Amino acid sequence: MKQKEKYLTVKIAEIFAPLLTEKKRIKFYYGGRSGGKSYAFADSLLLKGRQEKLLIACLREIQDSIKDSVYKLLCDRISLYQLNDYQIFENRIENKISGSKFIFKGLRDQDAHHIKSLEGVDIAWIEEAQTISKRSWDILEPTIRKDGSEIWISMNRELENDPLWIAVAAHPDDRTLVRKVNYTDNPFCPQEIKIQAQKCQSKSPDDYAHIWLGEPLRQGHNKLISAELVRRAFELSIISSDSPLIIGLDVARFGDDSSVFCFRRGRWCYKFISYEKLDNVEVANIATNLIKDYQPYRVFMDIGGQGAGVYDILKDRGFIEIIRGIYFGEKAINEERYFNRRAEMWDNVRGWLASSPQVQLPEDEDLFNELTGVNKKYDRRGRLQLEEKDEIKKRLGRSPDKADALALTFAEPIYNADEPRLYRQGQISLEEIFTTQLKGRNEIW
Ligand SMILES: Nc1ncnc2c1ncn2[C@@H]1O[C@H](COP(=O)(O)OP(=O)(O)OP(=O)(O)O)[C@@H](O)[C@H]1O
Ligand SMILES: [Mg+2]
Repeated sequence: MKQKEKYLTVKIAEIFAPLLTEKKRIKFYYGGRSGGKSYAFADSLLLKGRQEKLLIACLREIQDSIKDSVYKLLCDRISLYQLNDYQIFENRIENKISGSKFIFKGLRDQDAHHIKSLEGVDIAWIEEAQTISKRSWDILEPTIRKDGSEIWISMNRELENDPLWIAVAAHPDDRTLVRKVNYTDNPFCPQEIKIQAQKCQSKSPDDYAHIWLGEPLRQGHNKLISAELVRRAFELSIISSDSPLIIGLDVARFGDDSSVFCFRRGRWCYKFISYEKLDNVEVANIATNLIKDYQPYRVFMDIGGQGAGVYDILKDRGFIEIIRGIYFGEKAINEERYFNRRAEMWDNVRGWLASSPQVQLPEDEDLFNELTGVNKKYDRRGRLQLEEKDEIKKRLGRSPDKADALALTFAEPIYNADEPRLYRQGQISLEEIFTTQLKGRNEIW
C-alpha cells in the first residue's frame, strides 16, 4: 500500500514566515524568553530539510554533549509530527528521502581543521547567540561560503555590546534580516509563561525588560554620562584657575536652536552664554568681542552647519591662530575607539567629569538634562558612538546646545605651557610636542 505522504503543517507565527519565504544571507531573530524562536527555527528547518537536500549545522558557542544542543527539540518535533522520513542517529539526524542532514557542533573548540567540515553547509543555525564570541563569529562567517547559504541566528540579548549583535544586527545591511520577537508575539505562548512574565513585570520592570522583552542588561551602561558625575561637578566651587581659557562655540543650526559659548579653564568650567536667533555676522561680532576681552587660548567651533559662515568671518578678521573649526561628524583623533569626533569629544567630557581632582560645572538644569540625556552605543567595529541627534532632540525637545559647546572645549588636548615636558637633556621642540600629541603625553584638558 502506498504510504500517504505526510505534510508538516508549519504552525509558526507570521513573524517567522521570512525564515521560509525570504532569501537572506543572515536571518537574525532576537527578543525575550518564550518568543517562539527555537520552535519556529526547528520546525522551519525540518520543513526545508524535507523539500530539498540540505546540510544543516546547528551551532552554539559551547557544546560539551549533544544534550546541550537543539538535537532534543528537533527529535521532539519529529516525533510530534510523526515525520517518519527523518532518521535519528546518536549525533545527527538525516532525512531518508531528501538526503538532508542535521549536524551539531560547539564553535569554541573548533580548530581550523574541524571548521572546514562546515564549508558545505546550506543553513547554519546559531542558537543562544548571545554567548557567541567575536572570535567564533570571525571564523564561522567566511566558512559558511556555499552559494546561497544562509545563517540563522536566535538570540536573547544579554549586554549592549553582545558581539554578534554588534557584528550583525546593530547595523544590518540589505542581506540581513533582523526581527525582534517577544512572548507577546508568540501565539502559542503557554498561559503559565504569561503569568510568570506578568509577575516579573510587577516585581521588577528592569528584570522584565531584560528577561521578557529582550532588552540588553542596562547596568546604567547605555547612558554615556551618569547623573551622579554631573551633580558632583555642580557641588564644587573653584574660584579661579591658571589654566588657559578654552571657549567652545556651538552655532545654532536652525531657528529653534541657540548659539552657545562655553568658557572653561582646565577643571573649572564657569560660564555658558546663550543667544537665540542671531545671524552669522552677529554671532561673529560677539565672538570677536569675547576673543578681544578674554583672550582665550583657543576657540573651538562646530563648522558642520551655520558655524562654517561664522568661522570664515573670524578667519577673515585675523583670528586664525585662535579659532579651530570642528566637524562633529568627522573621524575621531583616536579612530580605533570612537565612531566620530562627536563621540570622542563627549567621551572626553565624561572622562573629565570622572577625573580627580574634581572638576566644576555651573549649576544648570538644562545642562544637566543634556549631559545625562545622551545614550551611547557601539558600531560594528566596537567603537563608541552616540545616538543620533534627532533621537536626542525628540527626547529633550531641543538640541543639547550647551553640552555640545562644553564638548567642543575638549576637541583637542591643550598643552600646558607652564609645565614643559623635560626631554632628553631638558630640551623640547615644538615639533616633538606636536608629533607626540596623540600619544597623550603631557597633555591637559
Ligand atoms: N509552533 C509551536 N507550537 C506549539 N507551541 C509552541 C510553538 N512555538 C512556541 N511554542 C510554545 O512557546 C514556548 C516558547 O517557545 P520557544 O522556546 O521556541 O521560545 P524562545 O524564543 O526560543 O524562548 P527562549 O528564550 O526561552 O529560548 C514553547 O515552550 C512552546 O510551549
Ligand atoms: Mg530558545
